[in-house]
Amino acid sequence: MNTEKIASVTASLALALGLGVGTLWPRQADASLALAQKYACVACHQPATKVVGPSWKDIGAKYGDGKGTAAQLAASIKAGSSGKWGPMPMPPQAQVPDADLQALAQWLLDGAK
Ligand code: HEC
Repeated sequence: MNTEKIASVTASLALALGLGVGTLWPRQADASLALAQKYACVACHQPATKVVGPSWKDIGAKYGDGKGTAAQLAASIKAGSSGKWGPMPMPPQAQVPDADLQALAQWLLDGAK
């Protein structure tokens, strides 16, 4: 096997490993964004623009930095929310399992990054 061949085998191996790890262990942020898409939060929430609901950025600004806890935010998402941001209420999101709610709430507190 010549050096070129070894280099190309090594490169494909590294690529395969990288892809494998990426698929098995998605980054926390990607995982949370995927949850927001899975549970259709994105129908009413956008990263930086208010649509039906406040933007992820505004939620992070309001509750991040110790101003709120993930448990409080998770409870608020589960039960629905009204009167905190404007006239439009958020219906209860009871279809979301608690572990996913917790992950979404923590992701929002961290600025949805
Ligand atoms: C039908 C539209 C809609 C959907 C779907 C929706 N939201 Fe909301 N969301 C809103 C509105 C409107 C508000 C503002 C409610 C208020 O003024 O209290 C809100 C508020 C919030 C808040 C702030 C709550 C608070 O206590 O201040 C969080 C966090 C949130 N949404 C997360 C989510 C997550 C996560 C999902 C998906 C599981 C989701 N939302 C799905 C419309 C929606």
